[in-house]
Amino acid sequence: MNLFNVYPLYNVTPVKAQDCFVWDDKGRKYLDLYGGHGVISVGHTHPDYVAKLKKQLDNLGFYSNAIQNPIQVELAKKLGEISGYPNYDLFLCNSGAEANENALKLASFHTGNSRVISFHNSFHGRTSAAVAVTDNEKINAPINKQQVATFLPLNDIDAVEKELQKGDVCSVIIEGIQGVGGLDEGTPEFFKSLETLCEKYSVILILDEIQSGYGRTGKFFAHQYYDITPDIITVAKGMGNGFPIGGVLISPKLEASFGLLGTTFGGNHLACAAAISVLEIIEKEQLMANALDVSAYFNEQIKSIPQIKKSKGKGLMCGIEFDFEVGELRKKLIYDHHIFTGGAMNKNLLRILPPLTVKKEHIDTFINALKEILK
Ligand SMILES: Cc1ncc(COP(=O)(O)O)c(C=O)c1O
Repeated sequence: MNLFNVYPLYNVTPVKAQDCFVWDDKGRKYLDLYGGHGVISVGHTHPDYVAKLKKQLDNLGFYSNAIQNPIQVELAKKLGEISGYPNYDLFLCNSGAEANENALKLASFHTGNSRVISFHNSFHGRTSAAVAVTDNEKINAPINKQQVATFLPLNDIDAVEKELQKGDVCSVIIEGIQGVGGLDEGTPEFFKSLETLCEKYSVILILDEIQSGYGRTGKFFAHQYYDITPDIITVAKGMGNGFPIGGVLISPKLEASFGLLGTTFGGNHLACAAAISVLEIIEKEQLMANALDVSAYFNEQIKSIPQIKKSKGKGLMCGIEFDFEVGELRKKLIYDHHIFTGGAMNKNLLRILPPLTVKKEHIDTFINALKEILK
């Protein structure tokens, strides 16, 4: 059997990793400034994380959601405290798309409506409702097009109000900072007005923090730069540092009932152990402060590269924009300088999503490589 050929692959075969580095099958060492699409939060194979997962596997790897699971309760308590949402409830699932799928369902159950407002260039995942609210025709199959989604320009609050006035909208979904699209974001005023309008029209505001959350921007969530309180927040990626887990943080105004949502694997013992370990390490190693410190250094250093036309993002969710497509540049970074970086829908943008443990010396390595390639 062959693999279903949907991924264009770089010719690199990682076989081991530690903190911000990955080694391939030929023993070559790579600096990982992309964390496998922003997934590696506390560094590859962090010793505390590995120890916690091994211990959990020795005890109990999985049982279903039909039994008491104190590890889920511990995770919810810890996540509530560290994120600043102690009074929200947590629903656990396995991926980002699933988190958004469940968030959209909850909004629809709650309001009785089905239309969703989303934004140009957004990405929310590939399952049915999540992909329907993703602004990319190519990945929406005919079956997904039954969902009604309206895409509006980011930061056009009048357009949002005009749609909400129609009375058939269940939710507005927006990324804290757009990831796949290319690091564009709402202005503080836009986020604030979205919150006000959603409240006014009784529509659920969903903040997709799947890429921008978990401390990456220097605050636990990117929206916390704007003093707003969304009704639902979705998380995944950095939550498990590579162990698949996603979550939906739900305001007390949305009521749970037995059977409303459910999953076989979501919130399993191993996934929860991974997620608790991630939160412990973020706290113990003060990784949000590190994100701010290293990103300030990064933003200072990139000023020495005149070919960079614009820098985008916050903290360690960084984008640097050129006036040419970066495909070849990324190849040179990987093959000649052994540095992983990411691309975006915006072909001129290089995406940097390193582990939150990244150090200034790693930024120096990257800047020197960029200068060498661009000279
Ligand atoms: C903002 C955002 N939402 C949702 C998703 C989907 O997550 P997953 O690939 O885990 O389903 C992604 C993945 O890149 C994302 O960046």
